[in-house]
Amino acid sequence: MQPTVIAPSILSANFARLGEEVDAVLAAGADWVHFDVMDNHYVPNLTIGPMVCEALRKHGVTAPIDVHLMVEPVDRIVPDFAKAGASIISFHPEASRHVHRTVQLIKSHGCKAGLVLNPGTPVEVLDYVLEELDMVLLMSVNPGFGGQAFIPSTLDKLRRVRERIDRSGREVRLEIDGGVKADNIAEIAAAGADTFVAGSAIFNAADYADVVGRMKAAVSG
Ligand code: DX5
Ligand code: ZN
Repeated sequence: MQPTVIAPSILSANFARLGEEVDAVLAAGADWVHFDVMDNHYVPNLTIGPMVCEALRKHGVTAPIDVHLMVEPVDRIVPDFAKAGASIISFHPEASRHVHRTVQLIKSHGCKAGLVLNPGTPVEVLDYVLEELDMVLLMSVNPGFGGQAFIPSTLDKLRRVRERIDRSGREVRLEIDGGVKADNIAEIAAAGADTFVAGSAIFNAADYADVVGRMKAAVSG
């Protein structure tokens, strides 16, 4: 298992002052910035693209930027995000015609590669590609919106993916995204996640350091 990472999703941040919001969550103890890219095609919502990622880098953000692509097709936006300063790029297999090729494309641009499993996507999609991945991202809500409730069956799925990662003997992060809160993060960690995305739970809180601190404390038990 790798060191715990808390990755606030800026989807729930105040976009009118995004740079300050990101500075504030990082100062509050967050490790990564989770960057949700929605295209109003693969998912029913429209958010931000490479220009915003680049703007955060220019603003001075040095923390890893964890780009979650909910776009179709995937490949043509990958080089733009790599150039814009993405550290990790994750995509949904349903949105790529050639999953293995997209993974290679991401890595050839110097980024780490993650594959995202929707609540209805079977874990078998990891067959033959797990050995190429740096991260598996399990969605615990259907993608498209922040503030949804954690789908309980994800806990069992986390255990199954954790087993596969452990069996592979490789260092692959297991990230969970959707409905993560300070009061359910302990059981999510116990099921095998090491990387935690949280949007509304962090950005809707009055004190970011308090909620990030409580999340980290709950994970380390
Ligand atoms: C949903 C996004 C999530 C979302 C999480 O499609 O991928 O990253 O922002 O938000 P919360 O933590 O509010 O469920
Ligand atoms: Zn996300």
